[in-house]
Amino acid sequence: MSALESRAPLRAPVVADWAIEARGITFSFTRAGPPILLDVDLAVAPGEIVILTGPSGAGKTTLMTLIGALRTMQSGSIRVFGEELAGLSGRGQREVRKRIGFIFQDHNLFDALTAFDTLNLAMKLCDPIPPRAEILRRGSALLESLGIGDYLKSRPHEMSTGQKQRVAIARALIHGPRIILADEPTASLDRDSTGSVLSVFRERADRDGVTILMVTHDTQLFDQVDRVVRMEDGRIVSTR
Ligand SMILES: Nc1ncnc2c1ncn2[C@@H]1O[C@H](COP(=O)(O)OP(=O)(O)O)[C@@H](O)[C@H]1O
Ligand SMILES: [Mg+2]
Repeated sequence: MSALESRAPLRAPVVADWAIEARGITFSFTRAGPPILLDVDLAVAPGEIVILTGPSGAGKTTLMTLIGALRTMQSGSIRVFGEELAGLSGRGQREVRKRIGFIFQDHNLFDALTAFDTLNLAMKLCDPIPPRAEILRRGSALLESLGIGDYLKSRPHEMSTGQKQRVAIARALIHGPRIILADEPTASLDRDSTGSVLSVFRERADRDGVTILMVTHDTQLFDQVDRVVRMEDGRIVSTR
């Protein structure tokens, strides 16, 4: 079945070993300020693709940065493959980040680097680092599956916004992360490119058990994932 065909949404599975397990997350940017997140609970199973949606300002990005150990949490508990992020040292946070592929709406590619250079640099996260020929093989296949196979040697200024975004997606995937946190990854993509990204996500989830948490407003994607979680005003208001 193609990833573009409709999938019946599943109920949140009951599993002991969640890939991501956030409990009672409350967070404020300033001491006196209002909470941006209020008692948020969210658990995602290995191999599950979950969409996080809701109005701008709901707290989606803030929650993603806490789960990704990009920001230090204040209260509650977040476990990533069982490892508690609360109280983790800077070094511990960096170790957790290595197991995650991050995709942001703004691609943040370096102007001087070709797509291959960018992927090659991302592979420095692997231990051991595979030989260059293997990186080339993997990188070419990944760009091909994202519909930009001809752009291996292109630099950002030679690519459209959507092509750059797909290089950024390849960069997040190439080192084989166990979790992908994607914040509006398809916002600059047309339908075909969005479809290829979803296919790659689905393949990673089904074949490798990769867990994917993705922020999007695109309602057409809702029936292609396992679960849709809606946030409003710092709270989770519905799950389906
Ligand atoms: N670095 C920051 N400092 C202070 N307030 C912030 C910061 N980042 C986001 N906020 C505020 O937190 C709230 C949630 O933002 P965000 O998590 O980006 O929401 P979403 O991703 O759902 O649009 C908003 O009111 C936003 O203005
Ligand atoms: Mg956001």
